[in-house]
Formats: sequence, structure tokens, C-alpha cells
Amino acid sequence: HDPAPDVVEVHLEAKVAEIEVVPGLTTEVWTYNGMLPGPTIRAKKGDRVVVKFENHLPEATTVHWHGLRVPAAMDGTQHVQEPIEPGEGFEYSFTVPDAGTFWYHPHLRSSAQVGAGLYGAFVVEEAAEEAPLGDELLLVMSDIGIEEDGSLTAADESGWFGDYFGREGSRVLVNGKILPTVAAREGVPQRWRVVNAARSRYFRFAVPGQPLVSIGGDGGLSESPLPVDEVTLAPGERAELYLLPVEGRSVVIPLLDANRFHLPSENDPKDLMRLELADEPPGRGASALPERLAEIASIDTTGAQRQAVEFMEQGDADGAVLGINGQTGGSLMFSAKTNTVEMWTLTNTTNYDHPFHLHGFFFQVLDIDGAGPPVRAWRDTVSLVPGETVRIAIPFDDRAGMWMFHCHILDHADLGMMAMLHLM
Ligand code: C2O
Ligand code: CU
Ligand code: CU
Repeated sequence: HDPAPDVVEVHLEAKVAEIEVVPGLTTEVWTYNGMLPGPTIRAKKGDRVVVKFENHLPEATTVHWHGLRVPAAMDGTQHVQEPIEPGEGFEYSFTVPDAGTFWYHPHLRSSAQVGAGLYGAFVVEEAAEEAPLGDELLLVMSDIGIEEDGSLTAADESGWFGDYFGREGSRVLVNGKILPTVAAREGVPQRWRVVNAARSRYFRFAVPGQPLVSIGGDGGLSESPLPVDEVTLAPGERAELYLLPVEGRSVVIPLLDANRFHLPSENDPKDLMRLELADEPPGRGASALPERLAEIASIDTTGAQRQAVEFMEQGDADGAVLGINGQTGGSLMFSAKTNTVEMWTLTNTTNYDHPFHLHGFFFQVLDIDGAGPPVRAWRDTVSLVPGETVRIAIPFDDRAGMWMFHCHILDHADLGMMAMLHLM
């Protein structure tokens, strides 16, 4: 039986703080509660979460609860709330209906604000007492642009690739640190919860010499475990991974080239983190991985309304404009009916990758270029390579209101790859 829901109260303050991200240098980072990443919010499925938020930044902001199925009015976008001005506050209050790994970030000038350090993880645990799958390791992956003198790369300045391609910070971070060491207990399996909180960077990695099992994604555990060689996470996406105890005392996990531009050139190879065995003795035996992780019903799409989303680029003499379905700047609006199922066809006619993200609702991927996905899972973000067609099924519930969908390369969203969904 499930324990009674609790009320989880969180105080969250957006403020500028001096942080030593690069050893020996102090950087003025934009933070939640002075921390990079912001504090991890933890609740269990069914709890009510009350976030008392205050803005002490020099500009307006909002907080979006990425992946959490909250009421529209709590979604933190410009369509459902007034910007929270400096010195002002807002109380977000909602129940968390799903277990899984989520995150929170601003939804105003998102690329600049997320890029300056505003993001944090939000973990919702199963309400029922279950044997843990393994030791939990939460990994918030991101990046940040830091100049030689320690200053933050100016928010509006084009970085390595420029905002047109999506700016990647010069420093790759895991849990706010450059190449951190994460400890694992010998003989104990681990459950990794990984969040890609970078504004534009894809994270592709493998653990050398170590089998990985994908056990879930954006919307909690998937139907069944899936052994994988490596993992690629687009901005906004989450992965849940299961690792058998690591062999060898220390393993460096490199960041592989995700090649989201599909160019022959390669990014600078970087290391992501170091995994080390701690000397602690094995803990209570973590359960062996079950064959069935979650019950995920298939979605009946008979009679579903169909809509098409095309990530595109429109060229003109002055350069290209990014948009969706020929519209840019967030003016495109879809409408849908509450409590119906829709089938959307997503395409990408540009020659670089775009992660599609829908607010407020999970979807299931039906097929990618005609091929069904290997396991059934709930997602809120799916990345498309050039020329790809992805069909998704979305079961809408009764949370009417104004929602959004956009490319989660936040520079692309800010440049116009975003749209509204009016659920009526
Ligand atoms: Cu992480 Cu509009 O979303
Ligand atoms: Cu979102
Ligand atoms: Cu994009």
C-alpha cells in the first residue's frame, strides 16, 4: 500500500552567486539558492509540492517544471503567468502524479538564464516501498562558458558555434563540477538518474568496459530493461541507467562526439567524469533487475486527430530563420481537445539535430522512420536527426490551458522554434 501523501515545502531563490567552477577562478553564476546546479527537489509520487520562489536576479524570470504533469497555470511559461520581476516572488503549488527524474529551469530568456546556471533536478520516487534497484547516483550534466578571467561568457554573445547552431559552454559539468569523481560501492549495482540540463549540448557517453542497461527515461521506468552500448541525451532529456558493480578501481568516462551537425569535423574530446570504487563493503543486497519494470499501456490511436510538426529553416539573403511549420517567433498555435489521443508526425528538414519537447504531457514514440522503438516508455522529449520522421501518440487529459512545444536547444527555441498548444 502507498503511504499517505505529504506536503513538501521548498524555498527557492534565484540569485547571483560567486562560485569556483574552474579551480582558482571565481565566477558570478546565476543560481538557485546559491548552488550549481540548484537544490535537488525530492518528493514521492502523489505528494503536494509547494515552492516558495523569490527572484533576486537582475531581470525577470519564471520557473518551469520540465516533465512534471502540473496544472497549466503552474507550468511557468509566459502564456500562463506574468514574468516574476526582480524582488518579487511566486508560489508554485502542484501534486506530482508520476515517479521519475525531472528538472526545473527558467522559461524566460531560457537560453541565457539556463546557460548562466539556472537549473536543478526534481526526483519523484515511487510511493510504494520497493527494494531499491541499486545505489542512486544523480548526474546533472550541463556546460557553462567561462572566460580566462573567470567571468561568464556574456549571455548574448555568440559562443563557439553561435546562437544559430546553439551555444555550447566551454566547460562541461557534471553536478556543477569539471571532471568530478563519483564513488560507487564495490559489489553494489547502481541506478543512475541522468539529466541533460545544458542549453544546447548533447551528451553522448559510454562507460568503458562496463555494460549499461537502459531502464527508463523522461517519464520514469520503461517497460523492460534494454542493454545499450552507449547513451545519447539531447538537451532536456533524462535517462535512467542500471550498472552492475564497476570492475577496476577507477574508470574515466569520456564525452563522445554527438555530432549533432553531421559534419565530418569533430568536437574537442573531453572527459566527463571519473568513476571510482569506494572501499565500503557491499550494502544490503540490491534486488536483481526485474524483467518487467513498469506497466506501460499501449495507446489506441484509432480515430486520433493527426497534426504535423516540421522543424525547419527558411533561408533569405540575410541568413536563415528557424521555425516550425513555416512560422517563427512562437506564433504558431495548435489546438486539441481534452481527454483525447492525438498522433503527431514530427519531421526535421534542416541539416542538424533538434530535440522536440512537449510541455505538460508524456507521449510514446510509435515509430522512427517506420521502425518501432525497442521498448515502450513515456517521454517528453525526442531528438530528430536531419530527414527523420518520428510519429508520437499523446494522450491528453483534462488539464485544459495553454501549453508549449519547442526545440529544446534553447537558442533555437529563443530564435523561433517554439509554438503553443491550446488544449480546450
Ligand atoms: Cu525544459 Cu519549455 O522546457
Ligand atoms: Cu518543459
Ligand atoms: Cu533546434
